[in-house]
Amino acid sequence: MKKLGQAAVLLPTIAIAVLVIMSIYIYAGWYDIGADRPHWRITTSVIEMLRTRSIERRAAEIKVPDLTNQQLILKGAGQYAAMCTQCHLAPGKSDSEIRPGLYPQPPELSKIRVDPRIAFWVTKHGVKMSGMPAWGRGHDDATLWSIVAFVNKLPGMTPEQYKDIVSRAPPDEEMEGMEGAKASSDASAGRKKSETPATAPMNGMQGMR
Ligand code: HEC
Repeated sequence: MKKLGQAAVLLPTIAIAVLVIMSIYIYAGWYDIGADRPHWRITTSVIEMLRTRSIERRAAEIKVPDLTNQQLILKGAGQYAAMCTQCHLAPGKSDSEIRPGLYPQPPELSKIRVDPRIAFWVTKHGVKMSGMPAWGRGHDDATLWSIVAFVNKLPGMTPEQYKDIVSRAPPDEEMEGMEGAKASSDASAGRKKSETPATAPMNGMQGMR
Protein backbone atom coordinates (compact mmCIF):
# COMPACT_ATOMS: atom_id res chain seq x y z
CA MET A 1 0.00 0.00 0.00
CA LYS A 2 2.80 2.35 0.99
CA LYS A 3 4.67 1.50 -2.26
CA LEU A 4 1.60 2.35 -4.29
CA GLY A 5 1.31 5.68 -2.51
CA GLN A 6 4.97 6.50 -3.27
CA ALA A 7 4.51 5.66 -6.95
CA ALA A 8 1.42 7.84 -7.12
CA VAL A 9 3.53 10.83 -6.05
CA LEU A 10 6.76 9.90 -7.82
CA LEU A 11 5.47 9.21 -11.33
CA PRO A 12 3.64 12.52 -11.88
CA THR A 13 6.62 14.35 -10.36
CA ILE A 14 8.98 12.71 -12.86
CA ALA A 15 6.59 13.41 -15.73
CA ILE A 16 6.34 17.09 -14.78
CA ALA A 17 10.13 17.35 -14.33
CA VAL A 18 10.67 15.89 -17.83
CA LEU A 19 8.16 18.35 -19.33
CA VAL A 20 9.83 21.29 -17.60
CA ILE A 21 13.31 20.24 -18.73
CA MET A 22 12.07 19.74 -22.31
CA SER A 23 10.39 23.15 -22.29
CA ILE A 24 13.56 24.84 -21.02
CA TYR A 25 15.64 22.95 -23.61
CA ILE A 26 13.37 24.12 -26.43
CA TYR A 27 12.87 27.69 -25.22
CA ALA A 28 16.54 28.27 -24.40
CA GLY A 29 17.40 27.48 -28.03
CA TRP A 30 19.81 24.67 -27.16
CA TYR A 31 18.56 22.44 -29.95
CA ASP A 32 20.67 22.78 -33.11
CA ILE A 33 18.17 22.85 -35.99
CA GLY A 34 20.87 23.22 -38.65
CA ALA A 35 20.41 20.90 -41.63
CA ASP A 36 24.15 20.14 -41.54
CA ARG A 37 23.86 18.51 -38.13
CA PRO A 38 22.49 14.93 -38.44
CA HIS A 39 19.86 13.53 -36.07
CA TRP A 40 20.73 10.96 -33.46
CA ARG A 41 20.20 7.45 -34.76
CA ILE A 42 17.15 6.95 -32.55
CA THR A 43 15.59 10.20 -33.80
CA THR A 44 16.18 9.11 -37.40
CA SER A 45 14.53 5.74 -36.76
CA VAL A 46 11.49 7.34 -35.17
CA ILE A 47 11.08 9.92 -37.94
CA GLU A 48 11.51 7.27 -40.62
CA MET A 49 8.92 5.04 -39.03
CA LEU A 50 6.54 7.98 -38.67
CA ARG A 51 7.02 8.97 -42.30
CA THR A 52 6.77 5.44 -43.73
CA ARG A 53 3.66 4.47 -41.80
CA SER A 54 1.93 7.79 -42.39
CA ILE A 55 2.50 7.60 -46.14
CA GLU A 56 1.67 3.90 -46.46
CA ARG A 57 -1.60 4.37 -44.66
CA ARG A 58 -2.67 7.33 -46.80
CA ALA A 59 -1.48 5.82 -50.08
CA ALA A 60 -3.13 2.43 -49.57
CA GLU A 61 -6.54 3.42 -50.96
CA ILE A 62 -5.27 5.26 -54.05
CA LYS A 63 -6.43 3.80 -57.37
CA VAL A 64 -3.64 3.72 -59.93
CA PRO A 65 -4.64 4.58 -63.54
CA ASP A 66 -2.98 3.01 -66.60
CA LEU A 67 0.60 4.26 -66.39
CA THR A 68 1.78 2.72 -69.66
CA ASN A 69 0.13 5.37 -71.86
CA GLN A 70 2.94 6.90 -73.94
CA GLN A 71 1.45 10.42 -74.04
CA LEU A 72 1.16 10.37 -70.27
CA ILE A 73 4.77 9.25 -69.81
CA LEU A 74 5.96 11.83 -72.32
CA LYS A 75 4.13 14.64 -70.54
CA GLY A 76 5.55 13.46 -67.21
CA ALA A 77 9.09 13.51 -68.64
CA GLY A 78 8.88 17.23 -69.28
CA GLN A 79 7.42 17.91 -65.85
CA TYR A 80 10.08 15.82 -64.15
CA ALA A 81 12.92 17.50 -66.01
CA ALA A 82 11.54 20.93 -65.10
CA MET A 83 10.63 20.36 -61.45
CA CYS A 84 12.37 17.36 -59.90
CA THR A 85 15.94 16.88 -61.16
CA GLN A 86 17.62 19.51 -59.01
CA CYS A 87 16.75 17.38 -55.98
CA HIS A 88 16.21 13.85 -57.35
CA LEU A 89 18.75 13.96 -60.20
CA ALA A 90 18.29 11.93 -63.40
CA PRO A 91 20.20 9.48 -65.60
CA GLY A 92 23.34 11.36 -66.64
CA LYS A 93 22.91 14.00 -63.92
CA SER A 94 24.88 13.05 -60.82
CA ASP A 95 24.87 16.27 -58.82
CA SER A 96 23.18 19.64 -58.40
CA GLU A 97 23.68 22.89 -56.55
CA ILE A 98 20.96 22.26 -53.98
CA ARG A 99 21.14 18.51 -53.37
CA PRO A 100 24.27 18.18 -51.18
CA GLY A 101 22.78 20.54 -48.58
CA LEU A 102 19.42 18.83 -48.27
CA TYR A 103 18.68 16.84 -45.14
CA PRO A 104 17.21 14.28 -45.49
CA GLN A 105 18.85 13.56 -48.86
CA PRO A 106 16.28 13.17 -51.63
CA PRO A 107 16.54 9.68 -53.13
CA GLU A 108 17.78 9.32 -56.72
CA LEU A 109 14.55 8.29 -58.34
CA SER A 110 16.30 6.55 -61.26
CA LYS A 111 18.02 4.22 -58.78
CA ILE A 112 15.09 3.11 -56.67
CA ARG A 113 11.64 1.81 -57.48
CA VAL A 114 8.79 3.57 -55.67
CA ASP A 115 5.30 2.09 -55.50
CA PRO A 116 3.15 4.33 -57.79
CA ARG A 117 0.58 4.93 -55.04
CA ILE A 118 3.31 6.15 -52.71
CA ALA A 119 4.94 8.20 -55.47
CA PHE A 120 1.58 9.85 -56.19
CA TRP A 121 0.78 10.61 -52.57
CA VAL A 122 4.23 12.03 -51.79
CA THR A 123 4.32 14.08 -55.00
CA LYS A 124 0.85 15.51 -54.30
CA HIS A 125 1.21 16.21 -50.58
CA GLY A 126 4.96 16.55 -50.01
CA VAL A 127 6.73 15.64 -46.76
CA LYS A 128 6.85 18.05 -43.83
CA MET A 129 10.26 19.40 -42.73
CA SER A 130 12.13 17.64 -45.52
CA GLY A 131 12.15 20.02 -48.47
CA MET A 132 9.87 17.74 -50.52
CA PRO A 133 7.18 20.14 -51.80
CA ALA A 134 3.42 19.43 -52.08
CA TRP A 135 3.10 19.65 -55.87
CA GLY A 136 -0.66 19.20 -55.56
CA ARG A 137 -0.85 22.86 -54.57
CA GLY A 138 -0.21 23.95 -58.14
CA HIS A 139 -0.93 20.86 -60.26
CA ASP A 140 -4.04 18.78 -60.93
CA ASP A 141 -4.15 15.00 -60.40
CA ALA A 142 -3.85 14.29 -64.14
CA THR A 143 -0.54 16.14 -64.28
CA LEU A 144 0.69 14.45 -61.10
CA TRP A 145 -0.16 11.04 -62.56
CA SER A 146 1.84 11.86 -65.68
CA ILE A 147 4.84 12.54 -63.45
CA VAL A 148 4.28 9.28 -61.59
CA ALA A 149 4.00 7.41 -64.91
CA PHE A 150 7.38 8.82 -65.88
CA VAL A 151 8.98 8.16 -62.47
CA ASN A 152 7.77 4.58 -62.86
CA LYS A 153 9.83 4.33 -66.06
CA LEU A 154 12.96 5.96 -64.63
CA PRO A 155 14.74 3.02 -62.98
CA GLY A 156 17.22 1.56 -65.45
CA MET A 157 16.81 4.35 -68.03
CA THR A 158 20.10 5.27 -69.74
CA PRO A 159 21.23 8.92 -70.02
CA GLU A 160 20.59 8.73 -73.79
CA GLN A 161 17.05 7.43 -73.35
CA TYR A 162 16.41 10.10 -70.72
CA LYS A 163 17.65 12.89 -72.95
CA ASP A 164 15.63 11.61 -75.87
CA ILE A 165 12.32 11.33 -74.02
CA VAL A 166 12.71 14.75 -72.38
CA SER A 167 13.47 16.36 -75.74
CA ARG A 168 10.23 14.92 -77.13
CA ALA A 169 8.09 16.01 -74.17
CA PRO A 170 5.23 18.47 -74.72
CA PRO A 171 5.57 21.99 -73.30
CA ASP A 172 4.86 22.58 -69.63
CA GLU A 173 1.38 24.01 -69.44
CA GLU A 174 -2.00 23.21 -68.01
CA MET A 175 -4.54 20.77 -69.41
CA GLU A 176 -6.40 23.12 -71.79
CA GLY A 177 -3.22 23.44 -73.80
CA MET A 178 -2.62 19.69 -73.82
CA GLU A 179 -4.77 19.03 -76.89
CA GLY A 180 -2.74 21.40 -79.00
CA ALA A 181 0.51 20.07 -77.66
CA LYS A 182 -0.62 16.52 -78.27
CA ALA A 183 -1.77 17.28 -81.77
CA SER A 184 1.43 19.03 -82.74
CA SER A 185 3.67 16.37 -81.25
CA ASP A 186 1.62 13.69 -83.02
CA ALA A 187 2.02 15.65 -86.22
CA SER A 188 5.76 16.05 -85.81
CA ALA A 189 6.07 12.34 -84.97
CA GLY A 190 4.19 11.62 -88.19
CA ARG A 191 6.64 13.77 -90.08
CA LYS A 192 9.51 11.96 -88.33
CA LYS A 193 10.70 15.26 -86.91
CA SER A 194 10.45 14.17 -83.31
CA GLU A 195 13.73 15.90 -82.47
CA THR A 196 12.17 19.32 -82.95
CA PRO A 197 10.28 20.17 -79.78
CA ALA A 198 6.88 21.69 -80.52
CA THR A 199 7.40 24.15 -77.70
CA ALA A 200 8.75 27.35 -79.16
CA PRO A 201 5.69 28.69 -81.00
CA MET A 202 3.32 27.71 -78.19
CA ASN A 203 5.44 29.34 -75.51
CA GLY A 204 5.54 32.46 -77.62
CA MET A 205 1.76 32.51 -77.85
CA GLN A 206 1.41 32.04 -74.10
CA GLY A 207 3.74 34.93 -73.46
CA MET A 208 1.65 37.25 -75.65
CA ARG A 209 -1.58 36.58 -73.74
C1 HEC B 1 13.66 20.89 -53.11
C2 HEC B 1 13.96 19.49 -53.28
C3 HEC B 1 12.95 18.59 -53.88
C4 HEC B 1 12.29 18.73 -55.08
C5 HEC B 1 12.36 19.89 -56.05
C6 HEC B 1 11.52 17.52 -55.25
N1 HEC B 1 11.70 16.68 -54.19
FE1 HEC B 1 10.90 14.82 -53.94
N2 HEC B 1 11.84 14.62 -52.16
C7 HEC B 1 12.67 15.55 -51.60
C8 HEC B 1 13.17 15.05 -50.34
C9 HEC B 1 14.10 15.77 -49.40
C10 HEC B 1 12.59 13.78 -50.17
C11 HEC B 1 12.81 12.82 -49.00
C12 HEC B 1 11.74 13.04 -47.96
C13 HEC B 1 11.95 12.14 -46.78
O1 HEC B 1 12.76 11.24 -46.81
O2 HEC B 1 11.24 12.35 -45.81
C14 HEC B 1 11.76 13.54 -51.33
C15 HEC B 1 11.02 12.38 -51.53
C16 HEC B 1 10.34 12.09 -52.68
C17 HEC B 1 9.66 10.84 -52.95
C18 HEC B 1 9.58 9.65 -52.01
C19 HEC B 1 10.55 8.58 -52.39
C20 HEC B 1 10.43 7.38 -51.48
O3 HEC B 1 11.37 6.59 -51.48
O4 HEC B 1 9.44 7.22 -50.78
C21 HEC B 1 9.12 10.94 -54.19
C22 HEC B 1 8.31 9.89 -54.94
C23 HEC B 1 9.44 12.25 -54.69
N3 HEC B 1 10.17 12.93 -53.76
C24 HEC B 1 9.04 12.72 -55.93
C25 HEC B 1 9.33 14.00 -56.40
C26 HEC B 1 8.87 14.50 -57.69
C27 HEC B 1 8.05 13.70 -58.68
C28 HEC B 1 9.31 15.78 -57.79
C29 HEC B 1 9.08 16.76 -58.92
C30 HEC B 1 7.70 17.00 -59.25
C31 HEC B 1 10.08 16.08 -56.59
N4 HEC B 1 10.04 14.98 -55.77
C32 HEC B 1 10.73 17.28 -56.36
C33 HEC B 1 13.02 16.77 -52.14
C34 HEC B 1 12.57 17.29 -53.33
